[in-house]
Amino acid sequence: MTDTDYPPELATAARVKELAMGLWVSAMMMTAVQLRLPDEIDDKPVEAAELAARLDLHPEAVARLLRALAAHGVFAEPAEDRFAHTELSRVLREDHPHSVRYQVLWTVAPWTWRAWPHLEEAVRTGERVFPRLYGKEFFAYLAEDAPRSAEVFNRAMTQSSTFTSAMVAEALDMTGVRVVVDIGGGRGHLLRTVLERYPWLSGVLYDLASVVASADPALRPGGELADRARVVAGSCLDGVPPGDLYILKNLLEWDDERTVTTLRNVAAALRSGGRAVLVQNLVDDSPEPKVTTGMDLLLLLNVGGRKHTRRQLTRLLSEAGLEITDIRPTASSLFVIEVARRAPVAGGA
Ligand SMILES: C[S@@+](CC[C@H](N)C(=O)[O-])C[C@H]1O[C@@H](n2cnc3c(N)ncnc32)[C@H](O)[C@@H]1O
Repeated sequence: MTDTDYPPELATAARVKELAMGLWVSAMMMTAVQLRLPDEIDDKPVEAAELAARLDLHPEAVARLLRALAAHGVFAEPAEDRFAHTELSRVLREDHPHSVRYQVLWTVAPWTWRAWPHLEEAVRTGERVFPRLYGKEFFAYLAEDAPRSAEVFNRAMTQSSTFTSAMVAEALDMTGVRVVVDIGGGRGHLLRTVLERYPWLSGVLYDLASVVASADPALRPGGELADRARVVAGSCLDGVPPGDLYILKNLLEWDDERTVTTLRNVAAALRSGGRAVLVQNLVDDSPEPKVTTGMDLLLLLNVGGRKHTRRQLTRLLSEAGLEITDIRPTASSLFVIEVARRAPVAGGA
C-alpha cells in the first residue's frame, strides 16, 4: 500500500498521534545525543551491534532507538540493523560546523521534563511555574544549583550564535559608534564577531557574573581582542554600562515587568545620546513559527516571559519611553530592531 492509498481518516489519526508523541521523540533525540551515537557514525553505514560494542550498549536496543529516529528522518537504515547519517542526524555530531548538539540538549534539559507537565497551571494563571517547582528564579537556579544545565545553556547560546552572529554583525549600522555594549551577551560570540568585523570599535560584554566568568577568551585580559574589549559582570535590571550602541539580542524574553525595567535602564543610558538595537525574532513574522511559538510557551513556564509580536514590543518600549525607528530582517530568523528615545509630543507637558 502506498501513502496515497492509506485511508485518509487513518492518516489523520496517525498524524495527530505523531504530534502527541512529541515527548517520545524528545526522549529519543536526547538519548541518542547523550550517548553520542551521532558522533560514532561517520560517512559509511554502521552495524548497530558495532555501535553497541563501542559504546557498551545493548545491540538490539540501539537498533530500535536508531530505527525509531530514522522514522523521523534522523538517521537512515539502508539495510536491516545498519545505520547511516541523514542531513538531520549529521548536525547532531559535536564536530559538525553547524552542530545543534547543545541546542538539542538544552531543549530537553532535565528541568524541562519537570516544567512542561505544569503547562496547564501556567495557562490558567499566565504565571511562571519555575519558582514554585525549584524554590528560586530560573537564572539563579542555573547559576547556583545546575552547573551542567548552565553549561549546556551557555554552549547552546554560543552554538546558535555561530549561525547568526555574522549575519547580525552585517546588519548592524555602526555609523558614529565607538563603544558597543552587548547586554545579556552570554559568553560573547556576537561581541567578538562585531569587534572583528568593525576594527575601530570597542566593546563591552555585559552579563551575569556566573556567565561572564567563562567569557570568550579572546575578550578577556590577554586575549586577542582584549585591548578593545571589556567584560563586565552585572544585572541589566540594575543598570547598564555606558556606550554608544546597546545590543539586546534575545534578552527581552522574560515577564513584562523585567522587560520594561531593562528598557528603562537602556532609555536612561540613551539620555546622553546613543542608540539601541533589539536583535530577536517576532512571533508574527517568524520563518520558524513552530520553534518561536514553542519557545514562547517555554518562556512562560520558566521566566514568565514571552516571544513578542511587533505590537506587544511597541507597547513595552513605549512604557519605557522608547520607540521603534526601524526594523530590518537579517539573513536569519532574527530582526534588527532599531530603538530610540521617544520624541516628546509637540505641545505636551
Ligand atoms: C537567551 S540568552 C541570550 C544570550 C545572547 N544574547 C545570545 O543571543 O546568544 C539570555 C542571556 O541573558 C542573560 N541574563 C539573564 N538575566 C540577566 C540580567 N539580569 N542581566 C544581564 N544578563 C542577564 C543570561 O545569562 C543569558 O546570557
